[in-house]
Amino acid sequence: MQKMCIAAPTRHGSGPSPGIWAIMMEEVMKKFLLIALTATLMGVGVGYVARAEVATLRGNNPLDASAKQFDRRKQTTVEGKIERSWKQQPPSIPHKIEKDEITLQVNTCLRCHDAANFKKEKAPKVGDSHFVAADGTKSDQMDLRRYFCTQCHTPQLDVDPLVENTFETVKQ
Ligand code: HEC
Ligand code: HEC
Repeated sequence: MQKMCIAAPTRHGSGPSPGIWAIMMEEVMKKFLLIALTATLMGVGVGYVARAEVATLRGNNPLDASAKQFDRRKQTTVEGKIERSWKQQPPSIPHKIEKDEITLQVNTCLRCHDAANFKKEKAPKVGDSHFVAADGTKSDQMDLRRYFCTQCHTPQLDVDPLVENTFETVKQ
């Protein structure tokens, strides 16, 4: 620490004269500006690199432009049931659901999986947990929290994983 640089000038002439003081202040200001400039440039640089490497799945098109359309992949059919990765997992859907509809008026899944229809349609009945209300009471009516099936059950597409992963099924 150079104490001399920031010592105020004294009248006794032992400290730096007012002229030297001014020059020293100028040097300090220059250094300060240089540091500030360097920091700004580094910030811009880091920002630039980050922007070049990170791209959203949506792509780099402007927010106010409509997103590029993804290729529509065909859903696949899997023979039999798809093994669950853990016991409580909502089972994945082994058949296509492209023609199914879940709206306020209609839920076509229930035409086969509903308690009233599953035998006739030879489909598995919606899970027992689907008849339990939020407060734990069971009923004959499917709980409406389960109405939007695809919130939990997903159809399958024949695609590679988006990111490499080492996921393993829980040993059952
Ligand atoms: C035409 C009747 C039909 C319709 C409609 C239908 N399914 Fe299925 N679903 C089946 C049958 C039959 C199976 C048994 C496996 C197979 O044969 O594909 C099944 C299997 C399933 C399974 C796997 C169950 C398990 O234990 O592994 C899930 C989950 C499922 N369906 C969800 C849905 C959802 C969600 C919809 C609506 C988007 C739907 N299904 C519409 C007939 C149907
Ligand atoms: C909040 C999540 C959730 C929603 C919504 C949901 N399910 Fe499930 N479903 C599950 C879970 C978890 C299981 C496994 C536990 C069980 O069997 O209850 C399951 C199991 C099932 C099974 C297999 C039952 C068996 O005995 O193997 C079928 C069929 C099914 N659901 C159909 C449906 C249909 C059709 C809908 C829409 C009407 C629906 N589910 C809505 C989570 C959900």
